[in-house]
Amino acid sequence: MPVVICVGGQWGDEGKGKVVDLLAETAAMVVRSQGGNNAGHTVVVGEREYRFNLIPAGILHPKTTCIIGNGVVLDPRVLLSEIEALEAAGADLANLVISERAHMIMPYHPVLDRLEEQARGDDRLGTTYRGVGPAYSDKVRRIGFRVGDLQKLRFLEKKLEFVLPLKNDILGKLYGAPPFEVAAILEEYTGYARRLERFIQDTFPLTHGALARGEEVVLEGAQGTMLDLDLGTYPYVTSSYPSAGGCLAGSGIGPRHVRQTLGVYKAYTTRVGYGPFPTELTDGLGDRLREVGHEYGTTTGRPRRVGWFDAAVARYSVALNGIDAVALTKLDVLDDLETIRICTGYRSKGQAHDHPMANISHLKHCEPQYEDLPGWRASTAGARRYQDLPPAARAYVERLEALLQAPVTHISVGAARDQTIIRAGGR
Ligand code: GDP
Ligand code: IMO
Ligand code: MG
Repeated sequence: MPVVICVGGQWGDEGKGKVVDLLAETAAMVVRSQGGNNAGHTVVVGEREYRFNLIPAGILHPKTTCIIGNGVVLDPRVLLSEIEALEAAGADLANLVISERAHMIMPYHPVLDRLEEQARGDDRLGTTYRGVGPAYSDKVRRIGFRVGDLQKLRFLEKKLEFVLPLKNDILGKLYGAPPFEVAAILEEYTGYARRLERFIQDTFPLTHGALARGEEVVLEGAQGTMLDLDLGTYPYVTSSYPSAGGCLAGSGIGPRHVRQTLGVYKAYTTRVGYGPFPTELTDGLGDRLREVGHEYGTTTGRPRRVGWFDAAVARYSVALNGIDAVALTKLDVLDDLETIRICTGYRSKGQAHDHPMANISHLKHCEPQYEDLPGWRASTAGARRYQDLPPAARAYVERLEALLQAPVTHISVGAARDQTIIRAGGR
């Protein structure tokens, strides 16, 4: 059973990039499963920081095949600039493959994303404006454009002639925005077709060939479980399925191949955009954690909202994903705190809840129930073995294990590759 699913257990930005890079060292393949360039996955190697929006975070390992899977919505313009930047930095992209089944973000998608957000007014979601929601909507409506369409330009033109009037109608009549033209889009995407041709393949034989040979395949989830279209804080979610099931669907792999589902969790919580966040710290302590943890969006540069670890959220996402191992990141960010709080559940309308309620208005106004643990007030950045951590830091990790009912196999104490503690059960 050679598949390891790597999913975010909170609201994204848990450190999946760092963890996938770590797993990719010994994996034959990494498949980015869903989302688009709303994601930003960071890998730090020495002095250099790489930020991936679409390219799998395993790409820095030259022997690892990196696939942009069928579940992704891909903006060709963004992908090409990411490819150029990586090649300029000396990375080898010979092993990058794009599924011909992945959908494309079209020029009108980011425009509609912004216009729809503006139209929502005070109820806006805080999207990344990358066109991800509109592109997935079109996929579901069966008027989407797939990467494979770049290899059939006459078909692409014909489809544009049908789809573009629908889009221009909405743009013009609803928003008073200027129309798009078939010829201009066709010319732009013909250019992308030429430049991306070398990467486009039917990925089915690749993934299933690797599985048949018993090779290790890592599924790289984007976003996090609380941003899942069904399971998260709807409508304050993204438009894909960042949970383990979504990773399988988004890479075309069945559950029987799964060896491990590794959930990535920050040692506290962050969220970008709007929506309920019960443990949010809106005071000076939140500002301090934001600065220490450099909590500014990789994709948009927006300050991330910051709060305590929410074990009610984490237990829920462990259960939903079938997480059997936890990678806990950014423990070092808590180094200076005197007291560290963990939310164990909520009270809402006189009732106790041990997991996030579907009713987001209740979740927004609930009272988180906290347990306080003493901080360790010492640097963990140099710890390489579990025993190197101060006793209070170990007590924090072990309390989380008890609350989550899952072992913490990886502990990250800094952004660098070697700032990682791997415990029994991890690799
Ligand atoms: P992702 O979207 O889940 O891949 O996470 P991001 O890359 O958006 O955000 C995580 C940020 O934390 C990145 O800037 C990482 O370089 C950084 N990071 C990852 N692990 C650690 C850690 O253990 N400690 C610290 N201080 N930073 C970390
Ligand atoms: P990674 O993979 C954090 C959030 C946006 C917004 C909501 C909807 O780096 O963890 P969208 O543009 O997807 O329609 O926006 O989802 N969001 C993320 N937040 N990390 C991400 O990705 C995110 N991708 C989307 O901020 O609240
Ligand atoms: Mg990110």
